[in-house]
Amino acid sequence: MTIRLAILASGRGSNVQAILDAIAAGALDAQVVGVFSDKPNAAALTRVPDRLRWSRKPQQFVDRAAFDAALADAVEASAPDWVVCAGYMRILSAAFIARFPDRILNIHPSLLPKHKGLHTHQRALDAGDTKHGASVHLVNAELDGGAVLAQVTVPVLDNDNADTLAARVLACEHPLYVHVLQQIAAGHIHAADGRVWWDGQRLFTPLPLQLPSP
Ligand code: GRF
Repeated sequence: MTIRLAILASGRGSNVQAILDAIAAGALDAQVVGVFSDKPNAAALTRVPDRLRWSRKPQQFVDRAAFDAALADAVEASAPDWVVCAGYMRILSAAFIARFPDRILNIHPSLLPKHKGLHTHQRALDAGDTKHGASVHLVNAELDGGAVLAQVTVPVLDNDNADTLAARVLACEHPLYVHVLQQIAAGHIHAADGRVWWDGQRLFTPLPLQLPSP
């Protein structure tokens, strides 16, 4: 089944591009029905044609609820099967999440439940972690707290700094997100009541993504 993806992004949009590239290559049975941003200058928006872009400045709304309601209306109008957060840097309100129950994904640059929130790469280094990585999870009202669908692990090298580690994790985020979305498109993954099933069985452990060694 071709799944319809509404992508939320605030930044450069390399994950948006990876999704578009996978669709173009025939590796992902999906259609991007809109890219939505809280940053009108976000490079992520330029990855799709004008007609698929939506952006507003949050400062133009009376409060967070008003912005999220406008965002949710626009997303809903694109009739997505899934809402895909890809570097969307605003916390989604409970009211937004309730509009798309069990239909919002996020990619987070850590091995959740470790290092929720920001500055994950520096925090992994500071903690002396030997492994780091990225997670794709369902979005619920708890920040980076929803059920994790899949993870990719990246070794932390002796000479890593936050930038080198971030770059290696990012290179793995792209195939991870594409992999998860393709598993959804192929009908393997099902989410309900905040829980995830894989081929009809409850997923208690995130699916690992094995990548060939560089
Ligand atoms: C990625 O590292 C993602 O995990 C995090 O924000 C970054 C977005 O990068 N949530 P990009 O805009 O997709 O290039």
